[in-house]
Amino acid sequence: MKLLLISALLSFTLAFTASCANKPDRDTTLGHQPLSLSEAFSSHFAIGSAINTQQANGLDAQSVAILNLHFNSLTPENDMKWERIQPQENVFTFEASDTLAAYAKKSQKDLIGHALVWHQQTPSWVFEDASGELVGRERLLARMKTHIFAIAGRYKNQIKGWDVVNEAFNEDGSLRESKWYQIIGKDYIEKAFEYAHQAAPKAKLYYNDYNLFKAAKMDGVIAMVKRLQAKGIRIDGIGEQAHYGIEPPIEELDISIQKVADTGLTMMITELDISVLKFPDEDNMGADISLSFALDKAYNPYKKGISASSQEKLANAYLSLFKLFLTHQQHIDRVTLWGVSDNDTWRNDWPMAGRSDYPLLFNRKYKAKSFVSDLIALAQQ
Ligand code: G3I
Repeated sequence: MKLLLISALLSFTLAFTASCANKPDRDTTLGHQPLSLSEAFSSHFAIGSAINTQQANGLDAQSVAILNLHFNSLTPENDMKWERIQPQENVFTFEASDTLAAYAKKSQKDLIGHALVWHQQTPSWVFEDASGELVGRERLLARMKTHIFAIAGRYKNQIKGWDVVNEAFNEDGSLRESKWYQIIGKDYIEKAFEYAHQAAPKAKLYYNDYNLFKAAKMDGVIAMVKRLQAKGIRIDGIGEQAHYGIEPPIEELDISIQKVADTGLTMMITELDISVLKFPDEDNMGADISLSFALDKAYNPYKKGISASSQEKLANAYLSLFKLFLTHQQHIDRVTLWGVSDNDTWRNDWPMAGRSDYPLLFNRKYKAKSFVSDLIALAQQ
């Protein structure tokens, strides 16, 4: 009997130690907060992160620990873009996206697809024939359909929602003169949504763009939404990327979220990050990746670490934004950060390569910034 008791005690101790070992160590990332970000916001909206290849395949273990603990939704930063999925016509490479889908399934996180139709990161063959001439409308529509059916169809039972069309509008609300628009015409957006619906009927379908807090741009998008709705074409949500500076546009964003809500669609914040650095061209802030400036020391002041005053401004910016998101929680489905830590944010290289920026919630040592516990507290108020 005594032996039986000792052995039971021993197996309990071993099992307990093993289960603790599997749990991410909250103290290393969060001070004394008992809840993670996604747990704290669970009754409000999902908390997502962009995920890159090394995180999806587990090589970047420190980021994976943060993803496991704090985020319940994942968007591939690059691994589902056209150039990665179909670099040449009918040559599909699903290795990285399959690895990501497997990680999302295993860790029970929502998976968001990004992006089906975009003017960037789309190989030139898509728009050209064998002699390099632009193809006609029907051929481009056929290529669009093949691509959408291949990728959205492949993950139709797993992907919760797709960024179907990305960045189709100019700042004034007119349609961007992309090759999609030039060759197919204005209904290319409708076609993309129709094909996505056919390929993945259960997935939510989103339009995604930056600077949608700007009234003119959002009005262009809302007019497009109404056109689709009038034709009975399904569109479920609008994503504001939210690549902001240290003074986020709280009041304008407030109005723009309400505009989306008034159409009956849901709103998502899809790529949130807040740069603490001065932008070299204030009129063109946003996320146009074709913008590029030579590295200039004057624009890279925090090479060795962020100043206390900038860190405080960053904290205030995040807190004001999340306060706003909470006031609109009935309209907002998800808030996704565009990256895990300041180590691997695109902001370090845009619009000036080689800067040190600090736009995310986790620092270069993979620790939660001090204000993350304030965000968690805010969610519980
Ligand atoms: O992985 C290759 C590497 O093999 C190669 O040696 C290297 C040389 O340039 O490039 C690497 O790929 C880069 C990739 O990021 C991964 O780091 C691409 O050049 C680079 O263009 C790519 O940038 C991405 C950018 O979109 C363009 O696709 C950023 O990571 C990504 O954060 C950014 O995300 C976009 C959203 O999709 C849409 N909204 C704006 C947002 C920010 O630009």
